[in-house]
Amino acid sequence: MIIKTAKYVQSCGSVQQCPGTDTPEIAFIGRSNVGKSSLINMLTNNKKLAHTSGTPGKTQCINHFIINDSWFLVDLPGYGYAKVSKVKRAIFSKVIQDYLTKRKNLKCVFVLIDSRIEPQAIDLEFIQWLGSKSIPFAIAFTKSDKLGKNQLIQNVALFKRALKETWAELPYMIITSATEKTGQQELLEFAENSIKE
Ligand code: GTP
Ligand code: MG
Repeated sequence: MIIKTAKYVQSCGSVQQCPGTDTPEIAFIGRSNVGKSSLINMLTNNKKLAHTSGTPGKTQCINHFIINDSWFLVDLPGYGYAKVSKVKRAIFSKVIQDYLTKRKNLKCVFVLIDSRIEPQAIDLEFIQWLGSKSIPFAIAFTKSDKLGKNQLIQNVALFKRALKETWAELPYMIITSATEKTGQQELLEFAENSIKE
């Protein structure tokens, strides 16, 4: 897919405020700082479209961008952990849960996984939750420029192994780098096919 235009539409604090559902959309989610906003900028060849930051928690709202005047690309806030009494519990905020379960025009959610680290419980829990809600998703490994090829292959293999413990079939997966533009066309092609469905 060739992206001719990518424009900011609006920033919403809840799913109720989001734009109408006549336009199909693809969303990006993952832990804070995993590279969601950077990936969106890379895909659209626009370094300033989504706001990025070295400090986790930059994106707090649901941000809609319109691509080629025909589909929405959505930047979501990161998910994380909350300390409940002495235990850490995974939290997917009410905003994220509402958005993902209620948005009728959502065609696919890309779950972003940091390719530099071994499988994290919170990411696996989140994917499990998506499955339990029958929300269509794909996986994008981020920051692949930051590690060597062997390490990358190993981390992806570890993640696949972790998923295979609960999933009979693995989802679509792609390796990306926002700085090297790795995976740009392939990811957009997958998004295009998801939109058509
Ligand atoms: P929140 O909005 O806070 O949840 O973060 P985010 O997931 O949107 O991450 P963001 O895109 O703001 O990136 C976080 C940091 O990682 C920034 O310092 C980016 O420059 C850096 N980063 C993101 N993607 C890449 C990548 O592919 N390669 C490298 N080297 N750095 C990256
Ligand atoms: Mg962000």
